[in-house]
Amino acid sequence: MMSEIGSRGTTSPWGDERDVVSAAVAWAAQRVLRPSDPRTTARPASELAAAAGKTITASGIGGKAALSLFDQVLEPATRAQDDVLNLAYIPSAPTNAAIAFDLVTSAANIFGGLWESGAGAIFAENEALAWIVQLLGWPATAGGCFVPGGTMGNLSALAAARAYATHCRGGRPKGGWRLACTTEVHSSIRAAARILDVGVLEVGLDDRGHLTGSELRRALADTDDVFAVVGTAGTTNAGVVDDLDDVADVCAERALWLHVDGAYGGAGLAAPSVRHRFVGIERADSFIVDPHKWLFAPYDCCALLYRTPELARAAHAQHASYLDEIDREEWNPADLAIHLSRRARGLPLWFSLATHGTDRYTAAIEQSIATAAAVADAIRHSPHLRLVKEPELSVILFERSGWNEAEYRAWSQRNAAEGVILCLPTRWQGRVVLRLAFVNPETAAEQVIEVLASLR
Ligand SMILES: Cc1ncc(COP(=O)(O)O)c(C=O)c1O
Repeated sequence: MMSEIGSRGTTSPWGDERDVVSAAVAWAAQRVLRPSDPRTTARPASELAAAAGKTITASGIGGKAALSLFDQVLEPATRAQDDVLNLAYIPSAPTNAAIAFDLVTSAANIFGGLWESGAGAIFAENEALAWIVQLLGWPATAGGCFVPGGTMGNLSALAAARAYATHCRGGRPKGGWRLACTTEVHSSIRAAARILDVGVLEVGLDDRGHLTGSELRRALADTDDVFAVVGTAGTTNAGVVDDLDDVADVCAERALWLHVDGAYGGAGLAAPSVRHRFVGIERADSFIVDPHKWLFAPYDCCALLYRTPELARAAHAQHASYLDEIDREEWNPADLAIHLSRRARGLPLWFSLATHGTDRYTAAIEQSIATAAAVADAIRHSPHLRLVKEPELSVILFERSGWNEAEYRAWSQRNAAEGVILCLPTRWQGRVVLRLAFVNPETAAEQVIEVLASLR
């Protein structure tokens, strides 16, 4: 229900903000509809200070000037995450519907921590989460909430796992808890271990870079201090999906919490061509996927899910006299992760899913997988290039015969500066290789293949 525009009282200390609202919304609309400039890039803070001048002053520089600064100086000093040839790290290619609804979400200014204040928004977020629960093959009683990113999702899930283990085993072991994972887990898992003050039991990899049941069983022999095993469904560096079914067997044998980090690759659950790689995920205890990576939502958005949300509530619910009135029977996202105040950051995903439908999501994810496969094929047929491993999802690792690290860097930096392609070197099994990550369904294989010809 809309009330009359500009109907805020005349006593507002901010004066009449209608012009600044119109200008900001108009800027957002034109930005959504124009392609990104791939040459946008970071600049030193000293340069930005000189170009921007003093922006925070006692009387304010005015919305028009601030917006113009953002347009001319600040936004161009950021990387175009959705450029079709940004294939570095894990980029982000939100739908226009999702971006537009991010604006709507901000405008609605909803406190999404508690049902009593955010019911409508939380209901819609839960619809989007229920879609993911169904993709996982989990019971409908599973649930969770949206947090800012995979790092926070992993930390929250592992905090819940640790609390559960401490509860079940009557306290923490003398030497403290450990979590079990391979060297290929995302750096946020080690960060979580540091924050939780738990150790890391390193598990070996197979020669394709997977966590396997047999390696896990070997590593766990004679241990009684492990509270969780972390599997990855789509490693950041190589797009590898661990042998989740075998890993789940071992976790079941030892009554260990299985957390699956699908921050990037979890989107593959919606793609029939790769769904078989995730078998076993239906037995995990917690899971994350970042819609800002490969589910076409803008930053920042991580879906955090628990098979048994009550266990997360036991770990995360905050209590204080002024919080006593909270109805704990309701679905309060604040109870399920390390946060209290939160924006309803799942709404852009919900709106995009509701707008486009899940079939289009499947088609868009399959598109990236097909593009990666076509580029991998072209690399396989290029005498000067070598595919170092078969892609499992949409990350490709390959090398240029005879090149050293400096040559890779020079090629990569030249192409980045010219706005041709963002393709960075990484390491695979000790060797420097090039890496491409496809999450943008608008990236055409032919475009990438044409650029790779310059590696000759
Ligand atoms: C597998 C994996 N886990 C966790 C993360 C961390 O996610 P975020 O950057 O959203 O905190 C990433 C980021 O790339 C990732 O690829």
